[in-house]
Amino acid sequence: MISAGCSCLLLRVATRCVVMLHIATQCYRFRHAFAHSDCHSSAIHGSCSYKLLHVALALTKAGRCMPVIVVANPKGGAGKSTATLVIAQTLAQLGASVTILDADPNRPIVEWRGGSSELSLDVIGDVTESSIIRVIREHRANRQFVFVDLEGTASRLVSRAITQADLVLIPLQASGVDARQASRAVALIHEEEEALNGRVIPFRVLLTRTSPIIATRIEKEIVAALKGAGLPLMRTRLNERQAYKAVFVRRLAMHELDPVQVNGLPEALTNAQQLADELVDILTVSSPDAEVTG
Ligand SMILES: Nc1ncnc2c1ncn2[C@@H]1O[C@H](COP(=O)(O)OP(=O)(O)OP(=O)(O)O)[C@@H](O)[C@H]1O
Ligand SMILES: [Mg+2]
Repeated sequence: MISAGCSCLLLRVATRCVVMLHIATQCYRFRHAFAHSDCHSSAIHGSCSYKLLHVALALTKAGRCMPVIVVANPKGGAGKSTATLVIAQTLAQLGASVTILDADPNRPIVEWRGGSSELSLDVIGDVTESSIIRVIREHRANRQFVFVDLEGTASRLVSRAITQADLVLIPLQASGVDARQASRAVALIHEEEEALNGRVIPFRVLLTRTSPIIATRIEKEIVAALKGAGLPLMRTRLNERQAYKAVFVRRLAMHELDPVQVNGLPEALTNAQQLADELVDILTVSSPDAEVTG
């Protein structure tokens, strides 16, 4: 007969085996994906690929599912859909499996998917306040990243999506009006934290449509105000770039755009890479400090 101590040891060994199997599967999935990615030659792609592998390992070890990134700001036109598609495209182009749930009533990303882009990136459009939680859970079980692009208003659908987030990204244009709206987005997150009995929902403010050349005075003031209020900011901004508009107009991925027709395409790709890189950093367990504490 097996003693209690012995069966406990067997259970621990079995658990360890399951965890190792999980890690091995994740490693295989990522290595397989990157082996078939045609873009891991440059240093920046290499570092991001490494981090993607790292995030998979860290989350698997911690027994967590793959990350859900919810992009929210009740202010319309803050850059939610643009930031979602740009970051998701970048991760997909690196070989990660990515799903976007398009909960924007105008369905801009569903429309993008209807174009001729060959990028492997799943887009789901039919999400409602009744189905959002179930759909997020279904996709996070099978995909390496799930993004949720939300409507520019506060609604029950928005609140429900926020409850499922590993990270809420709050895109914000560097204008006074938009900055005041950011606090509404943060308040929404805190309300959901209360509803979840204090589970912390990490978030970052992402400045969008910033000048790639020089930070304007209003931008500097807004950054100072956000830091003063203790709001964590992404170090990387999403600059104002023609390429980020062109992906929607041409319904292509950034790397499929014609650099002759789209000004500043290499710079836009680099900016998107840096943003994806920082996001992956944040999603790893040992998340680096946001700019607010830097
Ligand atoms: N980084 C950027 N560079 C250039 N144009 C941008 C950038 N970010 C957003 N835009 C433009 O700003 C407008 C609003 O952006 P977007 O649709 O992404 O905002 P949104 O927050 O999703 O809006 P809504 O609340 O209506 O869903 C669009 O015309 C988009 O092309
Ligand atoms: Mg939108």
